[in-house]
Order: sequence, then C-alpha cells, then structure tokens
Amino acid sequence: MSYPYQIKSYDEYKEVYKKSIQDPEGFWGDIAKNFAWRKKWDKVLEWNFSEPNVKWFQGGKLNITENCLDRHLEKLGDKPAIIWEPNNPEDHSRTITYKQLYNKVCQFANVLKNNGVKKGDRVCIYMGMIPELAIAVLACARIGAIHSVIFGGFSAQSIADRLQDAKAEFIVTCDGAFRGAKDIPLKSVIDDALIACPFVKKVIVYTRTRTPISMIKGRDVWWEDEILKVESQGDQTCDAEEMDAEDMLFILYTSGSTGKPKGVVHTCAGYMIYTTYTFVNVFQYKPGEIHFCTADIGWITGHSYIVYGPLSAGATSLMFEGIPTWPDAGRFWDIVDKFRVNILYTAPTAIRSLMGFGLDPLKGKNLSSLRVLGTVGEPINEEAWHWYDEHIGKKKCPIVDTWWQTETGGTMISNLAGITPAKPSFATLPMPGVEPIFVDENGKEIEGNSVGGNLCIKQPWPSIIRTTYGDHERCRTNYFATYPNLYFTGDGALRDENGFYRITGRVDDVLNVSGHRIGTAEVENAINMHSGVVESAVVGYPHDIKGQGIYAYVIYTGHHSDDDLARKDISATVARIIGPIARPDKIQFVKGLPKTRSGKIMRRILRKIAEGELKNLGDTTTLLDPGVVEEIKGGKL
Ligand code: PRX
Repeated sequence: MSYPYQIKSYDEYKEVYKKSIQDPEGFWGDIAKNFAWRKKWDKVLEWNFSEPNVKWFQGGKLNITENCLDRHLEKLGDKPAIIWEPNNPEDHSRTITYKQLYNKVCQFANVLKNNGVKKGDRVCIYMGMIPELAIAVLACARIGAIHSVIFGGFSAQSIADRLQDAKAEFIVTCDGAFRGAKDIPLKSVIDDALIACPFVKKVIVYTRTRTPISMIKGRDVWWEDEILKVESQGDQTCDAEEMDAEDMLFILYTSGSTGKPKGVVHTCAGYMIYTTYTFVNVFQYKPGEIHFCTADIGWITGHSYIVYGPLSAGATSLMFEGIPTWPDAGRFWDIVDKFRVNILYTAPTAIRSLMGFGLDPLKGKNLSSLRVLGTVGEPINEEAWHWYDEHIGKKKCPIVDTWWQTETGGTMISNLAGITPAKPSFATLPMPGVEPIFVDENGKEIEGNSVGGNLCIKQPWPSIIRTTYGDHERCRTNYFATYPNLYFTGDGALRDENGFYRITGRVDDVLNVSGHRIGTAEVENAINMHSGVVESAVVGYPHDIKGQGIYAYVIYTGHHSDDDLARKDISATVARIIGPIARPDKIQFVKGLPKTRSGKIMRRILRKIAEGELKNLGDTTTLLDPGVVEEIKGGKL
C-alpha cells in the first residue's frame, strides 16, 4: 500500500497545513479519494457549531471494513494484520493475516446476523484484549451494527448504565480475561449487569479463561458453537452493509464534568479517513512495519490506533493481552525484541511506572528495531520523556506526543515522527485540518505566541464527535456552548514563542488517572452511595506514577469507628458502582466542606490542600464557614 498523502518534510507540512485550513473541502476531498467507496460523496463538508451539525462526505456510501479488509486482500492477503501476544509469555502468540482476519470477521458477522443483530442495533462488547475483540468490533461494522466497547475495568453497575443508555440488546463477552496475575470474571460481571437490563436478548460468550460461568438458556450462547453453525451453513462470506458516510459507526462512553458518562458518537467515513490519515502521518508508517499500541480497545486509542487506523492503512497491528509489569517489568521490551516492533505507542503513566524499575529489566533486550516512539493520554513530564528517549529510543527514535480525546476520534496536535520538530512535554503542532485557538474565561481570543488559555478548535475535522447518544443537547452544552462557534476541549494549554502547543491538563472537573478519564462528580456520586456518607468532594492531586491521583474529602457518620475499615468500605463502594479504576487513592474524613454562601464547594481550596499546599489558599472570606478550612488542613488521612 502506498500513501500519497504522507507528508515528507517540515516545509511540506507547512504548505499542506496552510491549504488544509484555507480549503478544508478541497484538502479532505483529495485525501478521501484514497479510500474504497461504493458511491462517491456529493458534498465534502457542511457544518455549524451552533446546533451542532457536522456532516462530512454527505451522499457517500461505503463500509469501513471493506477499507480495513477487502481492499487489502489482493496485495496484502498473506501479510499479518494482527499479531497477538498473550498475557502469559509461555503461551503461544498468534498471527492473523489479512485473509484470515477477513474470513473471521465475515464468519462472526454471520454469527451476529444469526442471532438477530441488524443494521443500527447497538452491540455492547466487553472482552479482554484478544483478537476476537477486534473481530467482534469489525463484524459489527461489517453489518452496520453500532458497537460500544466497554473497558474490562468497569463494574456491573457501569455496564448496566451504558446498556440502558445505548438500549443495547446484544452483548459479546468472554468467560473471563487474563491481566497480569489476575483473572477477571467478565461474564459474571455481565450477569450482574443484566439483572437491571431485561431487554438484553443475546449474550455471545467467547471461551478464554475457561472459568465456570452461568449460561442462561435462550439468552447466552457460546461463540464457538455459533461459529460451527455458520460453518455448517456453507457460504461463510458476508457482504458488507452499504453505509452512509454519516451513519453511526460506534458509541464510546467517556466521563465528563457531570455525574453521568456520555456516549460519544463517531460516524463511518470521517472517522475512517481521519484515523488513517493521522496514523500514516504521525507515525510515518512504512509498509511492512509492526505497530505496537499498548492501549486497550476499551478506550478510544485502541479503537483508532490498534483497529481502524492501522488496518485501513494495511499495517500490522500488535495487540497485547497483558500488562507492562507482568511477569516482570521487562515485558514490553521482551515483546519489542520478540516481534522486532518498529513503532511503540504507549502512555506516560506506563513509562513512569517502568522507569521506577530502573534499567535492569532492559538488560539483554534488543530494542534496535524501534524507529518511532509515541505517547498519549496525559501530559508527559520531561523526566519521563528523556528516559523514554534515552533508554528505549537510544536517542535515535523520534517521540511523538499526541494530544487528542475520545471526542476528537484521532490525534489533533502532535509532531510528525522525524518530519516536524519534537520538544519534550510539548505536543507541538496541529495536524492538517486542525485549527486550535485560545480563549480566556469570557471567550475572548488570546492571540500571538508565548501565551496560554483554554484550548478550543475553530472548525470541524473529519472525526469530530457528532452527538452524544440519545441526547444531542448534551453534546451542544458540553462542547459547543461554553464558547459560541468553537469546540471546547476542556483542556488548558500554552503556546510557546514558536507556536508550539503544550497541553497543561483539564480545566474542568475531569481527572486523568493513569491516562483514564474520570469525572469528579461521578466519583462523588459513587462515594455518596455508601450508607455512612453524608457528602463528599473529590479533587485530583499530583501522583508520581498515575499523573493524577483521586483525593476524596468525605463527611462520614457511619457507625464504624475504625477509620481504615470505613475507608476500605468506601473504596469498595466506588469499585462496585464505577469499577476498580475509580478507587480513591486518599480518603480524608472531614466535618464540613468549604462552601460559598450559595452552597458551591470551593474545590480550588480542596485542590491546594490535596497538593500539600497549605499556605496561600487564597481568599476564604466568601466561605460560609471559614473554620472548616482549618479543620481540613489539620486533618489526618
Ligand atoms: O486532558 C487531555 C488528555 O486526555 C484527555 C482525553 O482523554 P480521553 O478522551 O480518555 O482520550 C485519551 C486518549 C486520546 C484530554 O482532554 N490528553 C490526551 N493526550 C494528551 C493529553 N494531555 C496531554 N498530552 C497529551 N498528549
């Protein structure tokens, strides 16, 4: 496969960027010609940010899986599409060629059809990181069903909330998942979720851990049995459903500043074109290279840069089931060595955690195949950046620091590996088609360089969020209403003297814990569900490995006098309501919370105390009861 749109020099980037902003329709229309369409579009772009209403490639017809699979069969059919490394290094890895992946996707698409799944139906996928997860995702896309992948770290309650919101009648899961030394009982979590979701018609279960599970007649079926049925039916191909460019491709739930996660909706054509374009340009992918993105497909990074972007580009995508520290902290390096990985794309939290193990885990590992390194998910501190550069890239591999979001679908601000300059802790320059702008609290533009502000985007790019599932108004108020006619990212950023961007973090009540987005309101709601809790306030604080930790101030009147046990109860409540990923790192019991006279919690003060900054708390005179601040300052954890 060749990529005529791959940018080859800094000068070319500047030229392409200029054109993309002046004439987005001409620019993206040219790129779209490199994809397989059933019918060409009538109009490249129509948009307004006031509703919002954004439509790319209207009138175009396609199926994303024909782009990810069918079009590669002739030339790349025998090349690996997915290489899979299991959790346990003693187990066999798997290599799935494009031809094999095509066959498996068609087969499973037929399984979905046999089980009553139709175009437009929502299918929830709750699986570990095995190739069947990618197969299930693509099989949904093949028949026009809308997938909604849920990360394995979410609880039954979170799954139930999402199933209800998406009105998903179908589930694909596994008996269990292996992650490091743990077995996660996925099917049993699904069973708990389904108590509150009687509308779910079918649960298809893939065997991975062979954990005993319940299988309910009429509702639960085994993946393997269903495949046998398809095999006995003879023809195993599955014609791809013809989709409109703007038909929904998937829903992915993410946290915002309100208590309820939102279902971010992406559509077929724009998402495909933007993820492919950014994959090819940011990583400067060369045909034949092995791309290892360590994210989970439960998050947007996995959707865009394990599944859709790489496969549409005909690349080889390496999927890893386990975690970086099991059986030891050399696991990533073993994988790089074993498969001669060329591109490694991971999160700052993983780098910081591995840094903590020193250089021993690197001994004897051949990392010379690496050509490009990438990071995503949170700001990378300079120390971690330099460690990555020196010890992993051996100062020969450009590091791309990619800033983007679930809502943006693909990378928005990043250097292009080896083409545009890198700068430690800076995402650097916008991708073609992306026009960042800073505004102050009043929405006034902050112009020029060496400035900071709230980061907004001026015009749509092809994979911009289209709506929040079932509630378009929520999409408008969340992203398009804070500053009229701009998409507001929720992030703060700086622009240096050369116009390079540095993302400084969220300016709303959203935390970024180990690269996972968690809303403070969500955690508070969960804590408040504990029977002994009167009220709580949650803030983030700097955490050496996780980037941000979760700090909860809790008014507690439970009868347990043992504070430690009470903290564990509260933590267990959060794990039950949201999932283990949202467990607070610190819980401080307090008698009151600092509130203004209108009843608003002054988080600024709580944040400072959580950071250990007990002086300079700023103006506390507007507080209803300034005395609570002293009590909190003197409190114990
Ligand atoms: O705060 C930014 C941070 O992660 C947020 C988006 O989270 P999520 O939707 O879960 O997507 C993560 C993976 C794309 C952003 O609002 N973030 C993401 N990448 C970076 C980042 N912060 C700084 N630098 C980055 N490279």
